[in-house]
Amino acid sequence: MASVLCLLLLQLLPLFRPRRRASASFLFTEFLYPNFSASSVNYLDRGGFFLTSASSTFSASLSSDSPQSPFVFSIIHAPTTTVVWSANSASPAPYTAALSLSSSGLSITFSNGSVLWSTPHLARPAKALCLLDSGNLLLLDSVNVSLWQSFEHPIDTLLFSQRLPSGGSLSTTAGDYRLLVTVADAILLWSTGGDQQFWSFAGDPRSVKDSNAAISYMSANDSGLYLFAAGDRVVYTISLPTAKIRIMRLESGGLFRVLDYSGTGSSLNEVLKAPTGDCDLPSSCKQLEVCTTQGQGATCNCPAGFAASRGIGCTPTDGSTIASATSCVSDGSYRSLGSGIGYIVNKFTNPARSGGDLSSCRQLCTANCSCIGFFYKNSSRSCFLIKKQIGSLASTSNGGAFDSGIGYIKILSSPPSPSTESSGGSSSPHLLPIILPSISVFLLVIVLFAGIRWLHRRRIGQERRSRSPLSPVNEIHRLRKPSHFGDSDDFKSDSDSEEISIPGLPTRFAFSDLVVATENFSTKIGSGGFGEVFKGRLPDKSLVAVKRITASFGGGMHGKKEFCTEIAVIGNIHHVNLVRLRGFCAEGRRRLLVYEYMNRGSLERSLFPIPGREDPPLLEWPERMAIAVGAARGLAYLHSGCDQKIVHCDVKPENILLDDRGGVKISDFGLAKLISKDQSGFFTTMRGTRGYLAPEWITNSAISDRTDVYSYGMVLLEIIRGRKNRSTGVGGEGSSSSSSGGVDLGYFPMIALEMHEQGRYVELADPRLVRRVNEDEVRRAVRVALCCLHEDPSIRPTMTGVAAMLDGTAEVAQPRSELLGFLRLYGRGYVDSTGSSGGGWVAGTGTTTNSSVVSYSLMISQELSGPR
Ligand SMILES: *[C@@H]1O[C@H](CO)[C@@H](O)[C@H](O)[C@H]1NC(C)=O
Ligand SMILES: *[C@@H]1O[C@H](CO)[C@@H](O)[C@H](O)[C@H]1NC(C)=O
Ligand SMILES: *[C@@H]1O[C@H](CO)[C@@H](O)[C@H](O)[C@H]1NC(C)=O
Ligand SMILES: *[C@@H]1O[C@H](CO)[C@@H](O)[C@H](O)[C@H]1NC(C)=O
Ligand SMILES: *[C@@H]1O[C@H](CO)[C@@H](O)[C@H](O)[C@H]1NC(C)=O
Ligand SMILES: *[C@@H]1O[C@H](CO)[C@@H](O)[C@H](O)[C@H]1NC(C)=O
Repeated sequence: MASVLCLLLLQLLPLFRPRRRASASFLFTEFLYPNFSASSVNYLDRGGFFLTSASSTFSASLSSDSPQSPFVFSIIHAPTTTVVWSANSASPAPYTAALSLSSSGLSITFSNGSVLWSTPHLARPAKALCLLDSGNLLLLDSVNVSLWQSFEHPIDTLLFSQRLPSGGSLSTTAGDYRLLVTVADAILLWSTGGDQQFWSFAGDPRSVKDSNAAISYMSANDSGLYLFAAGDRVVYTISLPTAKIRIMRLESGGLFRVLDYSGTGSSLNEVLKAPTGDCDLPSSCKQLEVCTTQGQGATCNCPAGFAASRGIGCTPTDGSTIASATSCVSDGSYRSLGSGIGYIVNKFTNPARSGGDLSSCRQLCTANCSCIGFFYKNSSRSCFLIKKQIGSLASTSNGGAFDSGIGYIKILSSPPSPSTESSGGSSSPHLLPIILPSISVFLLVIVLFAGIRWLHRRRIGQERRSRSPLSPVNEIHRLRKPSHFGDSDDFKSDSDSEEISIPGLPTRFAFSDLVVATENFSTKIGSGGFGEVFKGRLPDKSLVAVKRITASFGGGMHGKKEFCTEIAVIGNIHHVNLVRLRGFCAEGRRRLLVYEYMNRGSLERSLFPIPGREDPPLLEWPERMAIAVGAARGLAYLHSGCDQKIVHCDVKPENILLDDRGGVKISDFGLAKLISKDQSGFFTTMRGTRGYLAPEWITNSAISDRTDVYSYGMVLLEIIRGRKNRSTGVGGEGSSSSSSGGVDLGYFPMIALEMHEQGRYVELADPRLVRRVNEDEVRRAVRVALCCLHEDPSIRPTMTGVAAMLDGTAEVAQPRSELLGFLRLYGRGYVDSTGSSGGGWVAGTGTTTNSSVVSYSLMISQELSGPR
């Protein structure tokens, strides 16, 4: 009903056509009325826009990166496409969700009806939604009085005439920074570090004080940025050049910027930046890195005694660990940061104690678990404690006279051998002459040894290119490769150093990193082609799926260089419907692949309930179509979108992954090529899985992209029916569904063919979806699936064609029964064998298609999917 209404409204929309304006490319209303509903699909061709202010300056939109990706309901400054407000930026809605306007307000609901976001309870029923030229979105009652307005719920941006009241704040999407207005000031806070302050309006050299009154709100107009007291009395001013449109935004790094729009063009001009200096933010550099301004930019370096460490900033070179707010240490050992290094936050913080000496400051920090370090200023005898977290440091050596004090960082554990530390300083002068030559000799030996080995391996490599089994790797050399694989990845290199020069290689992980990330491979989330898959978390907190390629498979695996070559290819394939490869590990015989994590797992999990396990939520019909189209697009891209055609070879529901943002991604692509050529005996490289295998695997004809099309057709049928093509009944509920006759008994592709011949389609859809399917779409999907199953590969459509037929942009082809006769044969074999072998997939022998006799005398009793 809702969707019918929505469709109706869409049909009517063009009639509304408010005012046509010369510059306006979107001809939409500035008003909408209840019982309006929009999904990102409806407005796809309009960039998601559905509401535009009178002069087209601002638009409301369901914005997403690409079709079928999650959307955010936002207000956008149209000429510059700058987002100035958004409802759900922290949790984008799956594209199947919808925005609706009813008398109780605005809401974004999932396709299952639960609410993702909504306006709070309204005092009176809403009669209209309106977008003003100021960028304010209002819900109005019957007498045009505002019930709710976006200006009162700012996110990270302020506009002209918008007021940020004292107590109110702007915050970044990630929640790591805030701009807070207090009764005395407006300040910038680093929330991650426990609200450490690093800027103040009152303390900014550009601000002018006009009065002493308590601040009531912050706002901007044509001539400046102000802190006002009650009665619009100015307290502080930062003057700015005049502008037509002014956008004040707290940006993701913690920078607060004022951007002006001149009225033409599509860009914004920065007129104010706070804080001013490049080193005045806790995130100017990474943790504990010292920021030094240099001309226009800034450089980041670790203090003496510290070294850059995997993406997290600096750690002590002696191997000890920095304390964190959660680790309570009692022994209280510290590392000095040295002089000339200050912490910006101290400028805005009151000292924890004044008048004490260094050791009392140290005791103060030691006594408190949440203290992770301190700064002591000898000149004023003041003690500043660092709580929770420390950001980047600032060099004060070029900053003149002010005393930044000396910082000390709390240390968790000391390195195991303190002897090196103590002996280093005292004994080095007379030991040096002895140690130095021996070190050089040692190095020379290593270099020579490596050189000989390299030459040796090269010769062997030329003799037996791909046959060479992986030799046990010597890990003598620990090379550090500067920023080739991202700035923080050091790794162990083997002697075949040429692998490093392969361009486009994704991030390389050390095996030990992956052990940490997966907590020693403790959470298995799947096993499939090539090996097991584990859930992991990288140091940057992102979740990943780590595929550990089975060791026994290593024998058949290419050498490391070939492996890396393939990885470089796979790693450079990017498409919304393909799982992204984030990195890999190749150490010794170990081969691991690190993929982005898809939190709903595979389609198989969502589609086929497993008896005895909690049922996943039923996939509704629109979701199924979205999955079918997404998977088809992913495969189409593999077949024709990248430089090199890639045949997947193992299309099945296990390899279609889903997430709860509506993402649909194909996994395991490109891996078929990882098996070495000397394993290319026909059945050994064959990776397809029983039930999805195209006949050409068996008839020994060429494998091509159309082989994937066949498997896809099989998957599509399973998506339509919600059960395995080769199983009886829908899991658990038996096969008594009366309306669908014998549909659940037997080989589903054969039944689909028969029903197609009788023109009965709807009965083929999943019986659990009782009448919640779109009949047209079912017919279309069944026909497309059957076309994919044509016995002759050349008669099957391409994946691009399949995607177009499914999403309705191309006419659906007519399946040809005479090319599908073999399905009946498989079906008969299936039916015959169900009683005895419990669902085995056995084909009969011999059939005549057109002229040739094809023999299916093959009994496939185990999965032909290569070693697993
Ligand atoms: C909107 O729909 C509700 C129920 O769906 C109905 O009660 C109400 O009258 C409708 N309002 C308008 C303005 O059509
Ligand atoms: C509806 O779906 C969303 C995500 O798809 C999920 O978070 C929510 O729990 C579901 N609600 C119900 C009632 O099933
Ligand atoms: C509310 O505003 C709209 C648009 O300006 C106008 O058409 C309508 O008459 C107004 N309603 C009332 C009750 O003022
Ligand atoms: C902006 O506001 C300030 C303070 O209220 C006022 O003095 C100034 O005239 C205003 N500027 C413009 C251009 O209206
Ligand atoms: C430790 O420091 C935190 C933050 O300053 C403070 O809230 C807490 O009271 C202190 N605890 C002790 C025991 O002093
Ligand atoms: C600290 O200041 C005192 C005098 O105020 C001075 O004697 C002492 O040497 C200073 N210490 C350091 C480390 O600068």
